[in-house]
Amino acid sequence: MIIEAGQVAVVTGAAQGLGRALAAGLLDRGVSVALADTAQERLRDTAEAFTARGRQVLPVVTDVSDAAAVAVLASRTLEHFGRVDVVVNNAGITAGHGRPLWQTDPEDWQRVLAVNLLGVVHGIQAFVPHLVTAGAGHVVNIASLAGLTPMPFGSAYCASKHAVVAVSETLRAELDMAGLPIGVTVACPGYVRTPLTEAMFTLLQAGDEAQLAEHLPAGLSVDQVDQARASVEHGMAGMMEPDVAAERILAAVEADRLYALTHGDFEDRVRCRAEGILSALAGQNSPAG
Ligand SMILES: NC(=O)c1ccc[n+]([C@@H]2O[C@H](COP(=O)([O-])OP(=O)(O)OC[C@H]3O[C@@H](n4cnc5c(N)ncnc54)[C@H](O)[C@@H]3O)[C@@H](O)[C@H]2O)c1
Repeated sequence: MIIEAGQVAVVTGAAQGLGRALAAGLLDRGVSVALADTAQERLRDTAEAFTARGRQVLPVVTDVSDAAAVAVLASRTLEHFGRVDVVVNNAGITAGHGRPLWQTDPEDWQRVLAVNLLGVVHGIQAFVPHLVTAGAGHVVNIASLAGLTPMPFGSAYCASKHAVVAVSETLRAELDMAGLPIGVTVACPGYVRTPLTEAMFTLLQAGDEAQLAEHLPAGLSVDQVDQARASVEHGMAGMMEPDVAAERILAAVEADRLYALTHGDFEDRVRCRAEGILSALAGQNSPAG
């Protein structure tokens, strides 16, 4: 869709990081934005900073894991602005990171799925009926590169992001089958410089062994810890500023692309998974299979 002045967007997790950058990108295009977040003070500060620059915003404290709260977000957005055009389901968390799947607490699974997966579902269920009535609009779901590839020691996050990709693909297929001109984009960024990643990288870079021991899987050898550090250094080298990632995601929306892949340097990981699946299929289809 063409993003233009006069439209209205809603962005969840908008008080910092990628959500704030996405809101800024939309506001720069003259779009009014409902900003949703659980962090009340940070949300207020963010809204004040945008308002001081003459932008039109509506801060609404919202926990996306609560379907009723997201329904209130939708009614407040419509009451205040009178329409909604772009819905950005961005809020996301990590929990249980650094543990193998079999040692990840059930509570961590529940928290991560409640925010990262159900938060997106709640956003779709609260807003898409309004886009259907209007006969236009776009849904943007923020998944991750971890939604396309495995993520050892981050199983709950990885599963939640694979599910966000699946939800987005399914929504797009359903809207297409119903002949509804509503776009869907699922963003799968690699590392973006936000408070979420900065804490993790600072810790690993500092190399405090005692603290590392708390955050890395138990029983890793020295070599494996070195490998983890090397992988973090690789990630840091390719870490993208949030405004750059946001612009790439908004460009994908404007081009009506289903997938917004902001980081080209992870192609090998995506190809490796796809080729594993395709070669299994080829084996099944061969005379011996
Ligand atoms: N930073 C990265 O490298 C990276 C990479 C890929 C995907 N992502 C995804 O991008 C999104 C934003 O990540 P970020 O790095 O900006 O994170 P962040 O932690 O810097 O910001 C997330 C914001 O969401 C808010 N939030 C958390 N739980 C919420 C809830 N239940 N309801 C409403 N708001 C809530 C937080 O208060 C915070 O303001 C997430 O979905 C994340 O998984 C981030």
